[in-house]
Amino acid sequence: MEFYEVIKKRRSYRSFNEARMPEKETIKKIINAGRLAPTWANMQGVEYIIVQKNPIVKQIWKAIGQRKKFSNAPMFIVGIIAEKDSGKNKNGEPYYPVDFGICFEHIILAATAEGLATCWIGYFDEEKVKEILHIPKKKRVLGLTPLGYPLKLKDDDSPRKDLESVIHWETF
Ligand SMILES: Cc1cc2nc3c(=O)[nH]c(=O)nc-3n(C[C@H](O)[C@H](O)[C@H](O)COP(=O)(O)O)c2cc1C
Repeated sequence: MEFYEVIKKRRSYRSFNEARMPEKETIKKIINAGRLAPTWANMQGVEYIIVQKNPIVKQIWKAIGQRKKFSNAPMFIVGIIAEKDSGKNKNGEPYYPVDFGICFEHIILAATAEGLATCWIGYFDEEKVKEILHIPKKKRVLGLTPLGYPLKLKDDDSPRKDLESVIHWETF
């Protein structure tokens, strides 16, 4: 898929074909797209847990706790980063959430290019997810996504602001 086509095709999916698990080689290709993302000082602090075993998938779904949403996701990708894998900018703001966001969006776009459906999930019980997956205390889970084949592809008509309303030429 051409780059801008991928950007347009990416949509948030909350329902999946639960009978079809994404193939291991495809998952590795997607994670590789995260590995290649830029990070502050090339720290490369983001790691991923691939959750495919059914009882654990269901536990993660429960820790997300958004009713029926994602209930038929065949698997999840859970993103992890540690605060120590990050510096701060001149205003004292840490880079690690930025690094995380860039890496995770790379994997979401790569998944789209592979014909797979995702949804960035930012609202979930982080402590519960860490407990289920035995993630060390010092690590943070800043986002996760279901990964699966869509039941039906969505149109690329997600509402967005007009282009002209978000561009400021030269000054604000
Ligand atoms: C940081 C972040 C957190 C999000 N958290 C959730 C979430 O917890 N649950 C959910 O259903 N969607 C979540 N979304 C998806 C957004 O609702 C979605 O991207 C937005 O409505 C635009 O729709 P689209 O992705 O289909 O273009 C999140 C997206 C982002 C970027």
